[in-house]
Amino acid sequence: MRRQIIAGNWKMNGTIASGSILIEGINGTLKEDELSVDVVVCPPFTALERAVTMTRNTSIVVGAQTMDYHDAGAYTGEISPLMLTELGVRYVILGHSERRDYYGETDATVNEKIKRAFHHNLQPIVCVGESLAQRESNETMTFIESQLQGALQHIPKEQVQQLIVAYEPIWAIGTGKTATAEQAEEVCAGIRQYISKLYDKATAADVRIQYGGSVKAENAYEILSQPNIDGALVGGASLVADDFTSIIMSAQQVATDMLHSN
Ligand code: PGA
Repeated sequence: MRRQIIAGNWKMNGTIASGSILIEGINGTLKEDELSVDVVVCPPFTALERAVTMTRNTSIVVGAQTMDYHDAGAYTGEISPLMLTELGVRYVILGHSERRDYYGETDATVNEKIKRAFHHNLQPIVCVGESLAQRESNETMTFIESQLQGALQHIPKEQVQQLIVAYEPIWAIGTGKTATAEQAEEVCAGIRQYISKLYDKATAADVRIQYGGSVKAENAYEILSQPNIDGALVGGASLVADDFTSIIMSAQQVATDMLHSN
């Protein structure tokens, strides 16, 4: 059974001080609970070290929002995987649509980054997703398949099994427009099927697929209870401790329900 994973992408928000308060809030609510879901927070680079320190011995682990694929060198402004692992960072979001749109991230760079992330024992969360125009012209799956094909070039199946794919329709990010649970499930099932075509059924069955795009406390349970959705990548709602913990508790509820239905 795939374990649900809820990741909070803070984007370029907050300070070390406000991030600490946020983590304290999340920790405070989760402390007593024996969680059967994975919880990740992805603060801005400057707040990573504090986040790692504050989440030691808790059920939260820390991820970064991007990284370079070189270990070191003349790459002004970039952060390398070595720098992240030195801090105790465990996950890294790769190919977020904002990185693709504003900073020229491509399937080829995402591919390099996935390789380097695995090399350094960082777990990649690879984002894919269509624009509104692509959805309206029925190109959703063709586009996402091309993103996956580019991102997964020469990635062995042992690594693909550990990968997290985040399906984030661009039109749903930060807009308050969530994909319906059916729309999200349809694409996540399509992603799993395509990975099965690229590799095999067993590999595809292991990949965890998150949905992202205006996930909030109110819609989390319905989305997370879909058979091919194994978690959420949460932007806006991850900046409010109560909202983020409600989403985590929805995932926990889904996990409990599944246990009882088996
Ligand atoms: P949102 O962002 O939850 O604010 O829509 C999701 C994301 O960009 O990962």
